[in-house]
Amino acid sequence: MNRKDFFKTTALALAGIAIGPALIESCSKSGTGPQGPTVNFTVDLNASANAALANMGGFIYSNGVIVTRISTAALGFVALAQACTHAGCTIAYNAAGMNFLCPCHGGTYDANGNVSGGPPPNPVKSYAVTRVNSILTIKG
Ligand code: FES
Repeated sequence: MNRKDFFKTTALALAGIAIGPALIESCSKSGTGPQGPTVNFTVDLNASANAALANMGGFIYSNGVIVTRISTAALGFVALAQACTHAGCTIAYNAAGMNFLCPCHGGTYDANGNVSGGPPPNPVKSYAVTRVNSILTIKG
């Protein structure tokens, strides 16, 4: 290796050392988790499999979506993508905190799917919920 090659190699190595941590930091904040599926399905509130939705704070998982009863109102349901946007863990409704909690790293989301704490980089997808009698339709 001649002197010119030595300086070229050294300059590239130093640039890599300087840029490397910035790239790692950038990746860890941008997130790569899933955003949520496109769905259109119904939930029958009278079906035994959906009995949890009769109670405040009750929730079910269906089609990659968490459907939760957050109030006693006829339309007191919210539907969010089931997978956390940080690393894809399954979120659950946390009745005590009135939010959605990811058990993996403590990320939290509000009822609109917006990040309210922890490392998730993006909101989870929120779905429209409509109701006719005992049938909920989740779409989005
Ligand atoms: S996977 Fe949900 S907070 Fe990390």
